Amino acid sequence: MKILLGTIVLAVAGASVMAQQPDVALSVAEQNELTHKRCAVCHTDAKPLGGLSLEHFDADQPDPAIARMMLVKITGDGAISAAGMPVPSPETRDAFVAALAAMASHTSPESRWTVDLLVDPLTPNRGHSLVTARTELPSGTVLLQCNGASRRAAMQVSGTASTSPSSVNFDGLSAPVRAILAWCLAK
Ligand code: HEC
Repeated sequence: MKILLGTIVLAVAGASVMAQQPDVALSVAEQNELTHKRCAVCHTDAKPLGGLSLEHFDADQPDPAIARMMLVKITGDGAISAAGMPVPSPETRDAFVAALAAMASHTSPESRWTVDLLVDPLTPNRGHSLVTARTELPSGTVLLQCNGASRRAAMQVSGTASTSPSSVNFDGLSAPVRAILAWCLAK
């Protein structure tokens, strides 16, 4: 357990993305349009691939955890091209990435959860498909994971905490992240 957690902590550090200064800035409406055209075609309420719906994503009121994962998926896996032609220009992509980085940095101080999107060591050629949500308890660390590609859920507990999923306090974990975990568990 300790070894696995160590790997994950290293992977989190490695996945941190530096925001570049964009040449152009996108309006909120343009960010929403990009999300709709480039992402929500696959991430719909009706068929949320990877358990993620971006149909109602609003750049004006973004969920920082979802913005963080969108950022990783675009910079790490080229998700901006996933919907096919016409692919947005590099300038538009950079501006969108910068906007997402700003959204991702606004994590609520009350949230006890840290959410990230990692490469799963078990499926390293599938890109960043491992959604992770981590919280520190006085008795140890709880780590929830959903692999969006294989739809495999996992829960790990370190320290002395003997925790079952039903006793984990999900307060502060955002609804779209909970939806991804629930989607994985509902398989
Ligand atoms: C052609 C369909 C398609 C498009 C378009 C697409 N995605 Fe995905 N996305 C997927 C699939 C399928 C997964 C599940 C993981 C996998 O199979 O690798 C996924 C997973 C994700 C995840 C991880 C969540 C999870 O539970 O796996 C994020 C974040 C994500 N996509 C963001 C985006 C963003 C941002 C865009 C637009 C820039 C986008 N995606 C466009 C198909 C798509």
